Amino acid sequence: MSDDPISSENHGDVRIIWSDNPPVNALGAAVRQGLVREIEAAEADDGVNAVVIACKGRTFFAGADISEFGKPPVMPWLPDVVDRIEACTKPVVAAIHGTALGGGCEIALGCHYRVALGSAKLGFPEVNLGLLPGAGGTQRGPRVAGPELALQMAVTGKPISAQVAAGAGLVDKIIEGDLLEHAVAYAHEVKDTRPLPRSSERNERIENVDPAIFDEFKKKNAKLFRGDVAPQANLETIKAATEMPFDKGVMFERTKFMELMSGPQARARQYFFFAERKASKIDGVDDSVAPREIKRVGVIGAGTMGGGISMNFLSAGIPVTIVEMNQDALDRGTGIMRKNYEATARKGRMTAEQVEGAMGLLKPSLNFDDLGECDLIIEAVYENMDVKKEIFTKLDGIAKQGAILASNTSYLDINEIASVTKRPEDVVGLHFFSPANIMKLLEVVRGDKTADDVLVTAMALAKKIRKVAVIAGVCYGFIGNRMLIPRQLEAEKLLLEGATPAQVDKVHVEFGMPMGPFQMADLAGVDIGWHRDPSRIENIRDALCAKERWGQKKGAGFYDYDENRRPSPSDVTAGIIEEFRAKKGITETREISDQEIVERTLYTMVNEGAKILEEGKAQRASDIDVVWIYGYGWPVYRGGPMYWADSEGPDKIVEGLKRQQERLGDTFSFSQLLLDKAEKGEKFTR
Ligand code: 3HC
Repeated sequence: MSDDPISSENHGDVRIIWSDNPPVNALGAAVRQGLVREIEAAEADDGVNAVVIACKGRTFFAGADISEFGKPPVMPWLPDVVDRIEACTKPVVAAIHGTALGGGCEIALGCHYRVALGSAKLGFPEVNLGLLPGAGGTQRGPRVAGPELALQMAVTGKPISAQVAAGAGLVDKIIEGDLLEHAVAYAHEVKDTRPLPRSSERNERIENVDPAIFDEFKKKNAKLFRGDVAPQANLETIKAATEMPFDKGVMFERTKFMELMSGPQARARQYFFFAERKASKIDGVDDSVAPREIKRVGVIGAGTMGGGISMNFLSAGIPVTIVEMNQDALDRGTGIMRKNYEATARKGRMTAEQVEGAMGLLKPSLNFDDLGECDLIIEAVYENMDVKKEIFTKLDGIAKQGAILASNTSYLDINEIASVTKRPEDVVGLHFFSPANIMKLLEVVRGDKTADDVLVTAMALAKKIRKVAVIAGVCYGFIGNRMLIPRQLEAEKLLLEGATPAQVDKVHVEFGMPMGPFQMADLAGVDIGWHRDPSRIENIRDALCAKERWGQKKGAGFYDYDENRRPSPSDVTAGIIEEFRAKKGITETREISDQEIVERTLYTMVNEGAKILEEGKAQRASDIDVVWIYGYGWPVYRGGPMYWADSEGPDKIVEGLKRQQERLGDTFSFSQLLLDKAEKGEKFTR
């Protein structure tokens, strides 16, 4: 058998060039070499009048081979391959199925014609890797699809459907039925057409383009550009297509591509691409372990979490039995689910039938015994160990043999919960993040006795409901919330020492987080976990809660809020902090530098992450990064806290923490792993 991923065959006078490079037909060196060889052979063969480029397996080319990035380049380069295809003197038709992404979409643009299955998608996801379409895509894309669509595709990285692509002229024909057969027929239709429609020569859509569209796009999508260099570079190169001839535009694209490729953000994003895919692998569990079948899911509790969790399964077509204690709570919960679906439909992301379809799979119930028919039951009631134990004792009595019993606890000990059942091997933590129907992260908490096939089921199910799952060990707060604890603690201490909530938050936002610790507290509710006794004031949060400053929902928390929930620094909060300082006998405050805020709130998080790793509560450093990027909005272009720690250097982190050690006080202790990495000059992630 040959290792060559590229082969060819003739259908009459049409030459089919096949790529067979599993899993996703990435455009590695052998593929690039084979494509050029076969195009040249087809051109030289008098018996061939047209060419079809098609892929075997699950998809058309999904882009450049990311695993080649950073290695010495192997000829031919992808841009040259695309140019060679376009220069072919015989018509070349791309036959697209699956996803034509990045370099794959650029290969399609190099072809003279594109036909696609209706289910296919086309896109420029390079921005997600910190890059831009670097094989002529920024110049051919706008020429074929129009600058506005090309801009949207490149800056957001989101693929478009074959239908949208066809509407814009990016796909010439949508195929129903056998792709190859129709592609060959199409090639026959166009085989005598001359001149060939070469994307690089099609200038009508890029002439007289109003430059204001680029500014407007940026204004509308300002969030995408914050701190991140790739969206801006994508915008500039697409804009260049409207300002300069093709050859110059391609040179500009090349310069920008190389700039991005050699920068730290692209490296971080490419690291994260593989980190995300690694997260689904379970250490010590064989690939041969089969998942259990989940035909119906049970959810206990129709509150915000229970409702959101249920929606994930309903949206994926899995029936849900949701159980509550009383009719009012049940009606309220299911009503909110319906409203959420209807809001999605109003935005055009769901049809009315899909809303009814999803809600039709929901069985609301007041009878706990109804959970007996479920294959997976997720408890989503409030955080109280006694309540959870009571529920799991009851569940043990009614759940069917082999059913998985899960808790959505965000902090509590899964082993202790499992201990009240006679089947601890079936018990697992499934920690969803709020809003559970939207947030991508799922922490799968592995108890001491959790069976391998339960974990395998959880990971497979996560993929089905489009979550990114990470395995966590049992510890207080698991991975994400555990790392939040030192950050919160230090942030509040900083207030006592003289910082303001706005100063601390600003440092975090400038770092790239969506919000700082105090903005997050106000959004989530300052009163979460509060003891509800206004006379007991042990910290600033207690003091705020006692004055009913519970956050955004009360129009007041660490910040004041106007009727549109816009925050402003609060004199009342400043007064409360002052009062609390006096109570604590703190008479002096000091100027606090932004660097100190970074060291006390972010370096301490890294230290906690290292502890999680050394205790084996995370399988790998990159899993911690996945948790923070998908669960808390850590800027992906910084690669997550552990990758960032490596970029700073573990020795620098240790130095910073030592500088702060006195202020960090007795609650702080160094992670031995962090100290070791610093001493040996090693990294967590590389
Ligand atoms: N290069 C190398 N490996 C790739 C790859 C690529 N472009 N795309 C996917 N893979 C690998 C994954 O790492 C994974 O490997 P594993 O099984 O060992 O973990 C395997 O292929 C399957 O990938 P997924 O688990 O992601 O499979 P899905 O079916 O969920 O998704 C996909 C398929 C939509 C194609 C998704 O893999 C994807 O989005 N890939 C990246 C596409 C992309 O970013 N392309 C642009 C590349 S940059 C470029 O083209 C530059 C050019 O402009 C010059």
